[in-house]
Amino acid sequence: MITVALPKGRIAEETLGLFEKIFDKKFIFEDRKLILKDKEFTFLLVRNQDVPTYVLHGAADIGVVGLDVLEEKELDLIDLLDLQIGKCKVCVGMKNEDKLDPNKPGIKIATKMENIARKYFSSKAMATTIIKLYGSIELAPLVGMCDAIVDIVETGTTMKQNGLKVVETIMHSSAHLIANKNSFISKKEEILKLYDELYKVCNGKMH
Ligand code: PRP
Repeated sequence: MITVALPKGRIAEETLGLFEKIFDKKFIFEDRKLILKDKEFTFLLVRNQDVPTYVLHGAADIGVVGLDVLEEKELDLIDLLDLQIGKCKVCVGMKNEDKLDPNKPGIKIATKMENIARKYFSSKAMATTIIKLYGSIELAPLVGMCDAIVDIVETGTTMKQNGLKVVETIMHSSAHLIANKNSFISKKEEILKLYDELYKVCNGKMH
């Protein structure tokens, strides 16, 4: 039995879609239930940022999570496979009329991705003050709380509709299959079998 942590929302649905293709049967969570048990798999529905935590603590053997979350958390997990779904970018955004001035001391950056933001600006030797937010990041520059944001851009609609533009792209992200280190040893055969199947449906062929 393998326990799989999935991030609530579209990525969970798309991942279950991949499992449906592989195993030729439906995997559907009932109404508000957070656990789905099947013969071979138990699926858990968790918040996106919590997926690595469930896997790290061994509550799930494997999980599906954005590369951006993995980068942000830097946990001791195995990054098995890029599932090629949930593609997005982590970008620096500003108001349309603003420009990033690298010489301005203490540029204020609002973000939910503090580590990614801090690392990025320190690699450019830019002194920043990071303001941690939990959502609706695009609002912060509009009310003068920050000079720029670091946030996820998928379609670009949220930034556009709020009069913001992408000034720099920090990284590309997509959903990755991750594994707990102990599970990868104790359930290696089962996990690698699933890995092969997922690799085939994600990449169209075996490597
Ligand atoms: C994410 C992200 C952006 C938006 C980008 O937010 O933080 O706000 O999606 O998508 P787009 O480029 O397609 O418009 P999410 O919906 O996860 O909500 P949040 O504001 O609570 O983080």
